[in-house]
Amino acid sequence: MCPPAHFQVTYSINPWMDPSKPVDLPLAMTQWEDLRDRYLALGHTVELLAPRPGLPDMVFAANGATVVDGRVLGARFAHREREAEAAVHRDWFRAAGFTEVHEAAHVNEGEGDFAVTASWVLAGRGFRSSPLSHGEAQEFFGRPVIGLDLIDPRYYHLDTALCVLDDTADEIMYYPDAFSPGSRAVLARLFPDALIAAEKDAAALGLNAVGDGRHVLLPQAAVGLFEPLRDRGFEPLGMDLGELLKGGGSVKCCTQEIRAAA
Ligand code: ARG
Repeated sequence: MCPPAHFQVTYSINPWMDPSKPVDLPLAMTQWEDLRDRYLALGHTVELLAPRPGLPDMVFAANGATVVDGRVLGARFAHREREAEAAVHRDWFRAAGFTEVHEAAHVNEGEGDFAVTASWVLAGRGFRSSPLSHGEAQEFFGRPVIGLDLIDPRYYHLDTALCVLDDTADEIMYYPDAFSPGSRAVLARLFPDALIAAEKDAAALGLNAVGDGRHVLLPQAAVGLFEPLRDRGFEPLGMDLGELLKGGGSVKCCTQEIRAAA
């Protein structure tokens, strides 16, 4: 995670970002700290990336890399405004002792567009990550990569439209209308029992959530997801990241998951 010390909305690279709307920075910080503290209370380890001035979107740490089996696929950002973040992430991993750190050849926005389940890596394309990054990820991770076409600009990253609830059981929730008809059919075939989110909950960015197999941390406004999550045996934990929503991100965007080598 990366604290939102320099968070601002000074440019607009997704429909959620409106530079004319002021951001309450102390409130953004408090909301982010609540999320961090929640992870710690659940017994998770939180590593911190030092924020850099001039990189206001760094708080969305999920985008900086994808780590599977301790192998780090660095990001390559679609927009110039975020380009410099990629090297900061790679440097962090090298300094932390990770030896397999790959500088990506093709545009990919880390876990914004890569979601890791037990069997597959799901990969979004259409707005940010290049379809060519999917082959690169498959070769690097040695896991089958399933390409999915995103068609609605509000759901510009895969992690705004789909969430892995339990990565040991291929259990996900998603919002079908964010995907092309063919990709919808692929998801229905791979995940026939998925939790299907309603429009209202998707629009509250409710799918930008983190599941650890037992708990699901999600935007609290996505009220319609709580009951179906409980029915499946998960404990939903509502978070308020309203200030960060002004940048187009919530729980998952603020969280990069470091999947260690087995
Ligand atoms: N303002 C950021 C951008 O548009 C938000 C990134 C959200 N991150 C995510 N994992 N979806 O790039």
